[in-house]
Amino acid sequence: MAEVWDVYTVIRSSSYLIAGVCLVLALKWMTSPDTARKGNWAGIAGMVIAVAGTLVNPEIWGDATTPAEVLRRYQWIIIGLFVGLAIGAPMAIFMPMTAMPQRIALSHAFGALAAALVGTSEFYLAQAEGVVLAPMTSVPLMLEVVLGFLTFTGSLMAFGKLQEILPGRPITYRGQNMVNFAVLGGAIVLAAVLAVNPSLGLTYWYLFPLLALLAMLFGIFLVIPIGGADMPTVISLLNSYAGISGAAMGFVLDNKVLIIAGALDGSSGFILSVIMCRAMNRSFSNVLFGAFGAVAPGAKAVIEERPVQRGSPEEAAVLLAAAKSVIICPGYGMAVAQAQHAVKDMADALDHKGVDVKYAIHPVAGRMPGHMNVLLADAKVPYDELWEMERINPLFNDCDVAVVIGANDVTNPAAKTRKDSPLYGMPVLDVDKARSVIFIKRSMGSGFAGIDNDLFYMQNTLMVFGDAKKVATDISGELRKH
Ligand code: TAP
Repeated sequence: MAEVWDVYTVIRSSSYLIAGVCLVLALKWMTSPDTARKGNWAGIAGMVIAVAGTLVNPEIWGDATTPAEVLRRYQWIIIGLFVGLAIGAPMAIFMPMTAMPQRIALSHAFGALAAALVGTSEFYLAQAEGVVLAPMTSVPLMLEVVLGFLTFTGSLMAFGKLQEILPGRPITYRGQNMVNFAVLGGAIVLAAVLAVNPSLGLTYWYLFPLLALLAMLFGIFLVIPIGGADMPTVISLLNSYAGISGAAMGFVLDNKVLIIAGALDGSSGFILSVIMCRAMNRSFSNVLFGAFGAVAPGAKAVIEERPVQRGSPEEAAVLLAAAKSVIICPGYGMAVAQAQHAVKDMADALDHKGVDVKYAIHPVAGRMPGHMNVLLADAKVPYDELWEMERINPLFNDCDVAVVIGANDVTNPAAKTRKDSPLYGMPVLDVDKARSVIFIKRSMGSGFAGIDNDLFYMQNTLMVFGDAKKVATDISGELRKH
């Protein structure tokens, strides 16, 4: 038996080591579109190796004497695997790219719930066995439970808002921050009490359920006042919490790969939140307590009567054919229309005419980080044609035509000039500096933040109404005619 344990220890340790290396490489490779696919595979390999290394554990099957008994030991794991697969596989296969943010929120909810439930079972297992948890275990266990439960409900709320099952706008009320702090404070005090004296949970049975309840309530309260453009930031913050909860679980279970994976997830989620806050010129405290993204009451009710210049794809093609430099600014509408291939085709037609074409990528264009990069990579647009906002903005001064395709908020000059705008302070693409602007969208409708865009009414703006894919295809056809 001792030999089995030794062999297992070697297998487990090496699999965890290899998995840890794979996960670090995955993050490294995912920092560039060139290597992102490789990074994805490395992440998948890391997870599979870590799970396999855990599943061969003799604690599961060590005392079984026949193959049938071994199978019986794994029956709940196999059932869980199939239930997980039945939910996860259709979600991955059938959810459209435009629903990615809410899919990610749902994954965080499930991951965090798993961590919270493992923590709960460890807590009650220790109570049942009469084991007094040492602070080295009880402190991370409480952290795991609090973060796990709050991330679970917070992520479900985020899912509901993004899927429009719940109202997407921020909901605020007087004294909200006080209520939130009181609930969080209550959860922290209870967690501290149970961490110092876990056996109190036995004497006062309601303490642990109350802790779980407060944490879940806080998750809901945390996301209620957030909406609009702040949702991606809060999702990545919840990602970070789920990661930290997983790392804490690693300490509780003495599982190194969980510590590594959780720490990587926690820190990368946090860094991503910071990057997104910077991209939108927001501070963390502002995101969490500022109810950004709130549409001013009645904002949508204002009926805009300023004239706009409408144009056809033919007119747009004439303008483009006469240009020397064109900057394409894609946004969420390109994703909705799945127009990336048509856009690439239009760019190729321009390139063929000797026009210099660049793509301007705003960090929060679309509905998830890197959304435009992923779509354009899918259409085989070379990476060197994708220009980040800071690099491309100075080039708009010298640009003949900016083609805004399915984007809105990320081009809105109100973000620079109007202090009363919910977008104020968010860096935007300097489309207004181009000599001419072509806007391709279906209507005069607003974007994610729900506000009007002054660019539509500029003298040098041509509004070409229609589905992004159809209009881009028609423009390419016109360009190729002449
Ligand atoms: P939006 O401001 O949402 O504008 C998209 C525009 O696309 C809409 O005005 C819509 O106008 C048009 N559109 C929709 N379907 C179309 C179709 N089939 N063909 C042509 N046009 C279509 O998008 P954006 O400029 O990319 O800005 C992103 C916004 O989302 C920002 O406010 C950002 O903060 C927020 N956000 C970002 C993320 C991340 S991480 N990227 C996540 C959540 C939220 P019509 O209806 O008139 O066609």
